[in-house]
Amino acid sequence: MIDHKKVLDTIEQNKEKWLNELKDLLRIPSVSADPKYKGDVQKAAEKVKDLLLQAGVDSAEVCLTKGHPIVYAEKQVDPSAPTVIVYGHYDVQPPDPLDLWESPPFEPVIKKTPIHPEGAIFARGACDDKGQTMMHIKALEMMNALGYLKCNVKFMIEGEEEVGSVHLADWIKENKHRLKGDVILISDTSILSKDTPSIDVGLRGLAYMEVEVTGPNRDLHSGVYGGAVANPINILCKMIASCHDEKNHITIPGFYDDVVELSPEERSELNKAPFDEEAYKKDLGIKALWGEEGYTTLERTGIRPTLDVNGIWGGYTGEGAKTVLPSKAYAKISMRLVPNQNSDKIAKLFKEYFEKIAPPSVQVKVTAHHGGEPVVVSTKSNGYKAAAMAMEKTFGKKPIPTRGGGSIPIVALFKKELGLDSILMGFGLDTDALHSPNEHYGLFNYFKGIETIPFFYAYFYELNRS
Ligand code: BES
Ligand code: MN
Ligand code: MN
Repeated sequence: MIDHKKVLDTIEQNKEKWLNELKDLLRIPSVSADPKYKGDVQKAAEKVKDLLLQAGVDSAEVCLTKGHPIVYAEKQVDPSAPTVIVYGHYDVQPPDPLDLWESPPFEPVIKKTPIHPEGAIFARGACDDKGQTMMHIKALEMMNALGYLKCNVKFMIEGEEEVGSVHLADWIKENKHRLKGDVILISDTSILSKDTPSIDVGLRGLAYMEVEVTGPNRDLHSGVYGGAVANPINILCKMIASCHDEKNHITIPGFYDDVVELSPEERSELNKAPFDEEAYKKDLGIKALWGEEGYTTLERTGIRPTLDVNGIWGGYTGEGAKTVLPSKAYAKISMRLVPNQNSDKIAKLFKEYFEKIAPPSVQVKVTAHHGGEPVVVSTKSNGYKAAAMAMEKTFGKKPIPTRGGGSIPIVALFKKELGLDSILMGFGLDTDALHSPNEHYGLFNYFKGIETIPFFYAYFYELNRS
């Protein structure tokens, strides 16, 4: 069994080094969404491969795809032992808006914050997901050095999570034979707080749409034509506004048809998680919360679907005033989905609705981007139990099962194609500014992850033997 003190001593001795190695990875701007970073994404993949080899895997390769590469590595210790497949992503979100960063996004620095008085590392990808992926690599390095690794390990670290994991999906279907295993372990979610461990047992799905509304065949003088010709931006705003009723329910016909309603017991269980509404509002600088009537904030982000505009544009947005009646208006609209909604079906309902409500004065074109399916994870599996035991060991408290509001599209596919459950043993905090300016990852969280992961392997091994 694991000597906890030895683990803590090893972490203490390697702190500087393991932080510097994370910083090196964070310096590579591996933005998957923007083609101008393609070379950097490739560089980050090579770096992850080298880190895995350094950690002691038997083999590691950068697998090329039609998009960004997948880093795949294996370490076999005993063919009869259980196999843990670690999934993570080395790609990051675009750093924009750049002017809101207090230090440059790809020049990691350590700064203290009220939540992280021991310091946090600030950089794009620090928490999502380079920092969390790195914990697994360093934990493996430590387990190898201490002779603690009893399970076989496979690493699958991709470069397209932030753009929908399209090519990983193909790669998994083509490489099923290599991906035999017993559980998928992922650190790409949050805990409730540094002293309240939690494990997400659900993730929302996603349907992502783009709408183009066309009015007149060219931009017009808004005085000469205004009042007589439909303004596509006005129309688009009205169409979007019609998607929610006065109770903030979504009005698209059929939208809720497949939504699983939780029992009163399940809902009261979910609401037992500590939630400080005042602190939540204060952190975001808002005076009041918003959401679907009849549901708490935890329910609104965990078990209810949403519809949000991610971006809207058209007309004149430059300096000063230009009087114009624009020809076109655009919006990107996403819907977070919950069990048992299906992203293709919801995308179809959305398209039909927008086409139906568009007045004859405009033309509307609706296209769907890549989506993802919602997931729920059982708390009864050996994987969940091992994660819960590991967190209890290192936090001194049993983790609370929670529902994550975000999406990891590939998780549903792991279940469908490989028949494997994913355990969402994340260590981030929702307040770590993922996808926002000044993203950071607490040093406490980074080292707590490295401390906890070896216990996951040890308990998973034990549970699978008995
Ligand atoms: N790590 C996040 C998802 C997440 C964050 C889940 C916090 C739960 C808690 C992931 O990298 C992410 O941002 N996913 C995208 C998916 C999309 C780009 C297809 C998301 O949720 O917007
Ligand atoms: Mn992520
Ligand atoms: Mn993300």
